[in-house]
Amino acid sequence: MLIRKATIDDLDLVTHIEATCFPPAEAAPRKAFKERLKYYADHFLIAFDGDTPIGFIDGFVSDDEILTDEMFADASLHNSNGAWQMIFGLNTMPEYRNRGVGGRLIEAFIELAREEMRKGVILTCKAEKIPYYAKFGFVNEGESESDHGDAKWYQMRIRL
Ligand SMILES: CC(C)(COP(=O)(O)OP(=O)(O)OC[C@H]1O[C@@H](n2cnc3c(N)ncnc32)[C@H](O)[C@@H]1OP(=O)(O)O)[C@@H](O)C(=O)NCCC(=O)NCCS
Repeated sequence: MLIRKATIDDLDLVTHIEATCFPPAEAAPRKAFKERLKYYADHFLIAFDGDTPIGFIDGFVSDDEILTDEMFADASLHNSNGAWQMIFGLNTMPEYRNRGVGGRLIEAFIELAREEMRKGVILTCKAEKIPYYAKFGFVNEGESESDHGDAKWYQMRIRL
């Protein structure tokens, strides 16, 4: 498995992965990825099995300590000098799940944040994923302010 940073040329590829991993009402659209790749392709990692793209992780950098719905919607809020690396998306193609691809992407993202001397990494997730992220060192900080999709979200953070 190879992991590399994304470029704007990966727009169709990441849109396809997202549309495969989420139902239409939840999947971020192509337009959103165009913005994300424009502002923060350096914080967007794609995993490959040979030439086959199998997953990605992305999120921008901010001085804010709280991950908000506004951040998901507005990639221009990216601040390359910010203290905290956010995670907005983690996707593995269905046929490649439960083999550690997601874990390798999380670890690579944490390593990138460490190399860039960030204070840490922040994500939000549904309750059932808390034990999964805890395995990588993320600590649950309780309910997030997000009301995305009317679900309950929790904010988790790893300090580096
Ligand atoms: C969530 C998601 C990214 C996980 O990706 P993944 O590549 O399957 O992740 P991993 O393989 O690292 O871990 C998944 C499970 O497989 C287990 N696993 C990892 N390697 C394994 C292996 N070699 N053999 C058996 N199980 C393994 C992990 O321990 C984990 O188990 P757990 O859920 O009980 O903790 C993927 O299911 C997905 O894309 N879902 C849809 C989008 C989504 O919900 N994203 C997350 C938003 S918070």
